Amino acid sequence: MATRGVWLLTRLPLCSQTRSPVQCPALRRLSCAGTVAAGLRREEQPSGSVETGCQDKTPTKTFYEEQDERREQAQRTVLVHCPSKISEKEFLKHLSQHGPVHSHFFYESFGLYAVVEFCQKDSVDSLLNVTQIPAMGMEAVIPFRSRFLNLKLKSPSRPVSEMSPIQPSNQLPPSNRKLSELLYSAESVDDQLSTLLKELQLTEENTRLRYLICSLIEDIATAYFPGCTIRPFGSSVNTFGKLGCDLDMFIDLHETRKLRTHKRIGNFLMEFQVKNVPSERIATQKILTVIGESLDHFGPGCVGIQKILNARCPLVRFSHQASGFQCDLTTNNRVALKSSELLYIYGSMDSRVRALVFSIRCWARAHSLTSNIPGSWITNFSLTMMVIFFLQRRSPPILPTLDTLKALADTEDKCIIEGNNCTFTRDLNKIKPSENTETLELLLKEFFEYFGNFAFNKNSINIRQVNVLGREQNKPDSSPLHIENPFETSLNISKNVNQSQLQRFVELARESAWVLHQEDAYLPSSSSKPPWGLAALLLPSVMQSTKKQKKRCGSERIKSLLESMKSGSPESSANTSRN
Ligand code: GTP
Ligand code: MG
Repeated sequence: MATRGVWLLTRLPLCSQTRSPVQCPALRRLSCAGTVAAGLRREEQPSGSVETGCQDKTPTKTFYEEQDERREQAQRTVLVHCPSKISEKEFLKHLSQHGPVHSHFFYESFGLYAVVEFCQKDSVDSLLNVTQIPAMGMEAVIPFRSRFLNLKLKSPSRPVSEMSPIQPSNQLPPSNRKLSELLYSAESVDDQLSTLLKELQLTEENTRLRYLICSLIEDIATAYFPGCTIRPFGSSVNTFGKLGCDLDMFIDLHETRKLRTHKRIGNFLMEFQVKNVPSERIATQKILTVIGESLDHFGPGCVGIQKILNARCPLVRFSHQASGFQCDLTTNNRVALKSSELLYIYGSMDSRVRALVFSIRCWARAHSLTSNIPGSWITNFSLTMMVIFFLQRRSPPILPTLDTLKALADTEDKCIIEGNNCTFTRDLNKIKPSENTETLELLLKEFFEYFGNFAFNKNSINIRQVNVLGREQNKPDSSPLHIENPFETSLNISKNVNQSQLQRFVELARESAWVLHQEDAYLPSSSSKPPWGLAALLLPSVMQSTKKQKKRCGSERIKSLLESMKSGSPESSANTSRN
């Protein structure tokens, strides 16, 4: 989670010179991520600049249309490391020699960077044609050409005082202190959940940067596997990504394979000569080895490359310095991409979904229930499944089950990947909006109560099926927490979670439900009030003190019960068990 240290400075819209044939992304109604924050910023933006949209609107594009469009946009984009003092106007004028610039923005990460999107891909080629391999004094250079560029000033440009200043625009998640202040001053718990989402979700620029890094890595991978695609998946694209989340991507060789099976002319079938290996896993390991080596030797800014080839899902992990992203690269992870699409759809169905998921993810992180280090912790992916499962079980349900989405699918939606049926409708218009009107505050409280009392010892969490006669599904194995993988149904996505981590989750869920119930009496605006609502839940210290308070309350209640029994005026036992 290395995006700390990345600040966006400014952005300008562009293509001012000519009308671009490329459809302006400003018209997008729902982008993969960053929708609300970008929507809120709309008023601050100069005309023609990037606009995203509102999360409450039904997306006009499917997940794959969105992916393809952003991928194409990234191919027309370069990443330029700039001198710290630069005239933005002159910089753009210089680049415009190669063709009109569609949009650009600056950010800081160990220096000043510009992300520049041209209107035409030809402009990128034209720029690369006049870009030189740097001459290094004593050191040798590997003459590697890519779209990661350095801008050097031949002579000092105009005095800094004459340059119009680049307005810094911080894209880091707010500090805990700032977040606490924002949550404290919110008007209601619902407002707190919406604020958290707005502050933490990926921005439009951050999303663009993610697609750009994939595109730049794709340039390297294509040298070995022409026609391959590097596709982002996971929280970078599923609308649940938080600023600073990792960048999951995979090499999609599917297109290459598809080509291979379709090159049939007449009675002849032409095949490439290839090397055979004993298993798909070994093929994956070999592919990742060579890409990992290339990134290590040639990938500008790719550092700390780790080839984790013996994992269940082999991967190459590295940091990308210029963006600050922690990257995980796998191969042919099409089922995971399908999961990302499913989450994207669930996130678009009802505006409460993302707000609740963000809050639960933040709550879990604040209490170290999740971690960046692999281990027996619950993952964000599992938490998201738990929220979806919970929302499917509200009355009336807020989200449909996966089986319902499958039943609504038509032939175009049919999708079988490696023998797994991944079919579901992608047409949101087919899904009736929920009649459930519960507030976020109530849902948050109920989430904690639901999982604070869930029979984890016998039941599994499964977003696919409607419960039979209201009963939950029995666990097929003895893992403490069983969350069925939606597409590879024999797999448990939370197999890594041990009993003590599950126990911590349950205890914290109960504490949190208790805190929210206690607060029912509070008025958020009261000045003497301690951190309240979501703010209280995100502070481990508050939870610690409420735990003590709860114990005290509990023992005081027991004491008074004993006393009342002694004095012969029994207190209802129902009261004692309420907390
Ligand atoms: P972050 O914590 O914000 O990175 O969330 P994430 O959803 O990106 O999770 P992560 O980086 O751990 O995993 C990326 C994607 O891989 C997820 O969104 C899932 O689609 C998939 N994935 C993660 N864990 C599992 C798992 O245990 N089983 C399977 N089948 N897929 C998983
Ligand atoms: Mg991830």
